[in-house]
Amino acid sequence: MNKAQISKCCAREILDSRGTPTVEATVCLTDGTIGVASVPSGASTGIFEACELRDGDKKRYHGRGVLGAVSNVNRQISQALSGVNAEDQAQIDRILLDLDGTEQKSRLGANATLAVSLAAARAAANHYRLPLYRYLGGAAARRLPVPMMNILNGGAHASNNVEIQEFMIAPVGAETFAEGLRMGSEIYRTLGSLLRDKGLSTAVGDEGGYAPSLPGDEDALRLITQAITESGYTTDQVKIALDCAASEWFSEKEACYRMPKRMLTKSRAELIGEWERLVSEHPIFSIEDGLDQRDFDGWREMTAKLGKKILLVGDDLFVTNEKRLREGIRTGAANAILVKPNQIGTLSEVLNVIRTALSHGYGFIPSHRSGETEDTTLADIAVATNAAYIKTGAPCRSERVAKYNRLLRIEAALGDGAVYGAC
Ligand code: PGA
Ligand code: ZN
Repeated sequence: MNKAQISKCCAREILDSRGTPTVEATVCLTDGTIGVASVPSGASTGIFEACELRDGDKKRYHGRGVLGAVSNVNRQISQALSGVNAEDQAQIDRILLDLDGTEQKSRLGANATLAVSLAAARAAANHYRLPLYRYLGGAAARRLPVPMMNILNGGAHASNNVEIQEFMIAPVGAETFAEGLRMGSEIYRTLGSLLRDKGLSTAVGDEGGYAPSLPGDEDALRLITQAITESGYTTDQVKIALDCAASEWFSEKEACYRMPKRMLTKSRAELIGEWERLVSEHPIFSIEDGLDQRDFDGWREMTAKLGKKILLVGDDLFVTNEKRLREGIRTGAANAILVKPNQIGTLSEVLNVIRTALSHGYGFIPSHRSGETEDTTLADIAVATNAAYIKTGAPCRSERVAKYNRLLRIEAALGDGAVYGAC
């Protein structure tokens, strides 16, 4: 077989699920094989994330165009990667890092580097006629993740009055991924009926979950629990996870949390107390970003109080960044990391941060963004790394469902070799 040498990289501007431009890259090999990948984009982005390069030209897409990032792929990156072996992912990503030369990838843009990094992996997998999860994960890749399905949206993802950004259900008690997805979808539909019966909105937010206005955030927990039981499941079989996205609430000047929709103000201690209470009264097994991205001290305190009972997931806190994760490990902050490839900008860095998490007993959860494309690379990364969980939205809206459907197909292809979730 010919060597999998890169001949050129090219990119284009496509749209994400919010109608905002994003980068799609194609990596071409000398034998004619290609790999294509596109990158997502967040709304509640952490301040420590790698740079998403936008044009800022107000005459195009309100300044959100990515022609600069596209041009970086077509010129500098294509030139630098020409002749490089596509299966040498570490070298490809090192070249991208060196060519960029900045801490935040602000010269080339992490949207440019990630699109190429993922497209190169896809090209190499195609060269060997392997599915991406098998190419990346080898013979050991056979675990299907529990879907953490975001069925009720609030915060920056919805224009309702709910402050907590995400209410997710996780069918941990299913036997297979297909069964878990069915359970989640049934509960999602039951929740829709419950909302309709109460005269509440069933319009959906950015990640496909319903986005009704409610008397209080805790009502979302009550409604979801009701939807779980009315669908015929127990709260041992299907558990609840929250993404509070508390960085969105933090006021550095006043050193407190201001919830903008309900105009509530809470101290760090009050917020930790609130999470402790919710965990003791509801079937919550995971809380993401319960505190601000700069508040390592608060995270340590929260982890001491809740870390033995539930998953405490750092999203904005860690931003898929090895250095920040190591700081968390050193100080005892959180016990799991959310893994969003576009927060860091290359596949090698994603795989490294997962390795670091695993070797220190931290959980890891591959995750989509609120602005997504039809790209399903995340599903393959989850299986390749034997992830116990994946976050990729409600069972609604094709950019979310595409990842779930990809996981269904992978599970079918693995046959008896497949295992599901934490078992
Ligand atoms: P984002 O939200 O993609 O808008 O940042 C997702 C999350 O916070 O997990
Ligand atoms: Zn989050």
